[in-house]
Amino acid sequence: MSKIKKLIVAKEIDKRVKELADVLYNEYGDEEVVFICTLKGAVFFACDLLKKYNGDARLEFLRVSSYKGKESTGKIELNLSISKENIENNNVIILEDIVDTGHTLKFLKGYISDMNPKSLKICTLLDKKMRREVEIEADYCGFEIDDLFVVGYGLDYNQKYRNLPYIGVIE
Ligand code: IMP
Ligand code: MG
Repeated sequence: MSKIKKLIVAKEIDKRVKELADVLYNEYGDEEVVFICTLKGAVFFACDLLKKYNGDARLEFLRVSSYKGKESTGKIELNLSISKENIENNNVIILEDIVDTGHTLKFLKGYISDMNPKSLKICTLLDKKMRREVEIEADYCGFEIDDLFVVGYGLDYNQKYRNLPYIGVIE
């Protein structure tokens, strides 16, 4: 395994995820929320956030891909879809691992909006704002980070390092 420099340690992630769960709960209260976890990167984030979420929650999965190695291709492929009945007239929150160029999020937002949710918000664990190529912002964000390629806590480099309990940078 290559050496990984820690950027955000497990304890810090845990604390921030709890804060986000509480912010979301305050927003939705007794109204049920459909959380959409985008595979594979957001899976750790989604599991941890849902365990800390005090309200009524449903969990759905979507799979899109755009990345080849460290470069975003800008071309989004939908690998696992979601059925409209799970979205229509529901409060929906898309859980993303990271927003980079924004192409993926723009695609996802359009895809879900077309299914007429009651409301739609985006919650990302990480945000690399300065990398944006399309105009789109998440509604909730765990951490803003610099232009670094990060791995761990679900994020991969060619499918490796997802299992790290922290977020780090390959040295
Ligand atoms: P975007 O379409 O360029 O915004 O890319 C978003 C997707 O690229 C994310 O959902 C990640 O799967 C992947 N990605 C972007 N930056 C990183 C990174 O630093 N490490 C690992 N994956 C990343
Ligand atoms: Mg992703």
